Amino acid sequence: MSANAEASAGYDVKDLALADAGRSSIDWAYQSMPVLQSVRKHFIRTQPFAGYRIAACLHVTPETANLMITLRDGGASVVLCASSPFTTDDGVAACLVRDYGIATFAVKDESDEMYHRHIMAAIDLRPHMTIDSGCDLVATLHSSRQDAIGDVIGGTEETATGVTRLQVMAREGVLQYPVVAVNDAATKHLFDNQYGTGQSTIEGILRATNVLLAGLKVVVAGYGWCGRGIAARARGLGANVIVTEVDPVKALEALMDGHRVMSMGEAAAIGDIFITATGNRSVINREHFDKFKDGAILCNAGHSNVEIDLGALQRAASSRKEARPSVDEYAMRDGRRLYVVDGGRLVNVASAEGHPAAVMDVTFANQAFAVEYILKHHRSLEKRVHPMPPELDRQVARMKLESMGVKIDKLSLEQEKYLSSWAEGA
Ligand code: ADE
Repeated sequence: MSANAEASAGYDVKDLALADAGRSSIDWAYQSMPVLQSVRKHFIRTQPFAGYRIAACLHVTPETANLMITLRDGGASVVLCASSPFTTDDGVAACLVRDYGIATFAVKDESDEMYHRHIMAAIDLRPHMTIDSGCDLVATLHSSRQDAIGDVIGGTEETATGVTRLQVMAREGVLQYPVVAVNDAATKHLFDNQYGTGQSTIEGILRATNVLLAGLKVVVAGYGWCGRGIAARARGLGANVIVTEVDPVKALEALMDGHRVMSMGEAAAIGDIFITATGNRSVINREHFDKFKDGAILCNAGHSNVEIDLGALQRAASSRKEARPSVDEYAMRDGRRLYVVDGGRLVNVASAEGHPAAVMDVTFANQAFAVEYILKHHRSLEKRVHPMPPELDRQVARMKLESMGVKIDKLSLEQEKYLSSWAEGA
């Protein structure tokens, strides 16, 4: 379809006939999202978004579908496009259009051209608010769609990479509306990044390669919340974990957590599996390709597909072939073979199903509250990146605990007094 035809059709998905399968996955995920269920009931009663248009650029998964339905049920007119060309569940996209009337522009494995066209189609709805994951929607609005930016009162950002991009925009004075960094909520990065990425990255690698992790040397590049989750779970399965870092504090933490720490140059010669989770480019590059052992496996769990310099690998290799679905074998000129999983794209969403619904429950409850917060407070928010309000963060944690039937202690009056006085000491 052309951009115009898509915009007037109100959607662009692979095939509406896939909607039944999508519906089953959305319903299955919903059962594990009790916090979002409560938020949805609250929104149905209060209709906070009546008359507002929201554009979301997120992985098109069953969990995302439940967030979109929640916002729609809160009165919003919602449009969804993919935050990666490769992660769309075509059944989910079809179901959102057919059963929920949500404008969806996403097709699995879409070309770069189609990916950008779909972002444009979402902007054509002239959103009042944006929900972004990686900052492509916001960057497009600020670079080539200034015509639509005047309508936008605020946005939210899902990922660490996106928050970094937004902070650069704010520093350079180009960010034209306030954005809440949902990624930085404690109940987001401590859970989704650590437990969600940790588990699903290992799951993606196992599904793609069927290796036995026990006894292997697994090199994790980056010891942010994603990296530490991956490292902990790899160790749990018996791997010998090596961490590489550029930040001395994080490197020290990795060491104190019991991992070996060294430079990538040193690790390249000893590792069996390499997993990048830094959010930066060319973390694995030409220097390392020359050192890897025969059979080394390379995967990425950071944002986008730039962490492994595949252009340099392609130039250094004599040939490439598919070793198994999702795994490419690069034959090096000296006879070594290197394996790249999922073309260096996010292994946890490409070869597994991304974060489980139980963890996206917490993340997307934060997203829903953040959108409501922007709506209430946008007039007083400066055009910069804002933290998630701590009271909302704690509210999400409280709701998750409640949904799991867990009760916690309260401070006694005596304890509150003790904490608020400086005169009383040991
Ligand atoms: N990012 C990682 N996992 C995800 C999921 N299941 N849904 C949406 N975004 C995600």
